[in-house]
Amino acid sequence: MMHLSRDEERTLAGEEGHGRQKAMELLVALGDIYGAKRLIPIASAQVSGASFKTIGDAGILFLEDFSQKAKVSVRASLNPLGLDLRRWRSMGVENEFHSKQARIVRAYSALGTEPLYTCTPYLAGNRPRKGQHVAWAESSATVFANSYLGAMTNKEGGPSALAAAIIGKTAEYGLHLPENRRPELRIDIESIPDGLFPIAGYVVGKVAGKRIPHITGLDLSPDEHKAFGAAMAAAGAVSMYGYSNPRHTRGVNTSEVEETISLPASELTECANSLGGDAEWDLVALGCPHCSPAELRSMARYLERRRPRRSSDVWFCTSRHAYARCPKEVAVLKKFGKVLCDTCMVVAPIERMYNRTASDSGKAMVYLPTLGKQRASFRPTRALLEAISC
Ligand code: F3S
Repeated sequence: MMHLSRDEERTLAGEEGHGRQKAMELLVALGDIYGAKRLIPIASAQVSGASFKTIGDAGILFLEDFSQKAKVSVRASLNPLGLDLRRWRSMGVENEFHSKQARIVRAYSALGTEPLYTCTPYLAGNRPRKGQHVAWAESSATVFANSYLGAMTNKEGGPSALAAAIIGKTAEYGLHLPENRRPELRIDIESIPDGLFPIAGYVVGKVAGKRIPHITGLDLSPDEHKAFGAAMAAAGAVSMYGYSNPRHTRGVNTSEVEETISLPASELTECANSLGGDAEWDLVALGCPHCSPAELRSMARYLERRRPRRSSDVWFCTSRHAYARCPKEVAVLKKFGKVLCDTCMVVAPIERMYNRTASDSGKAMVYLPTLGKQRASFRPTRALLEAISC
């Protein structure tokens, strides 16, 4: 059983209201299941379960009820919604979906969450420092926070991240404890063929499963880490990795790791080919995880001297934060497709609009066929930009 302070006991007894009591009950139940000894303060939360597509009518009723009884007590940013709040009609979203999504937005707003609506909160102001404890729910953000930023978080569920946001604490177990952050296998990547870093993440996720890998030969930019980790977390259940390259080491010493796996470049190319899918698509979707300002700039630079090909629809998914920072680049990209904020190709009701979608995201290759009911095709970013322009 977890040790609770007097104040925490009072919250659990309902002395601070029914909403905080429910949130505390959830944290205590989780802590007891995972053998936590205590609750620890968090610097921020990141709450998933914001799209009507993923939480449905039952989720709306839960949030509407809960929002009358509680408020968050720490910074708590929200994951993407099922639509772009300003361009939902031009996306093709139906009125009924929009009105249900609007109820979710109102409920979260009453709870006091921050309307970032992105899976990259660390690029939009909610960026924890090394060693800080947070309670984040989005898998791609969780793996980035643990692995690249050096923050400490478990992969929370939507309700547990919300409960942590309300109480301002989480149960101390799993990746909040240094002894659980050691690598359990080593993966030596020979080299990553051009543009296949999301596929490298996908393959590492499949190989690692639930284990924390330490990856050697990994020399990626921050944006490449974002896509690499997202694919890994989706293809496996990995919430953290260590890595090293000739310039530096992040993570921990691998001397106690018993298993080492070599990953030749040819295996990454084979995997990319096996996920290649169709040669023609209804939709080309870029921006999973949401495009950073640097990625918007790089795509706009490539496209500015080309013309749209218009053989399929195109979505560039990004955060409103990045969108506002890149007005010139957004203007270029808009000639080639829709630049969407607040949402993405996985949590939007894409299955009502398209059947065949191409993406440069390893994570999307996991979820487009399942949640999105799409025939999904992987291509590196550059190949997709070539395909949509001439
Ligand atoms: Fe983000 Fe949607 Fe991909 S939430 S990581 S863009 S599936």
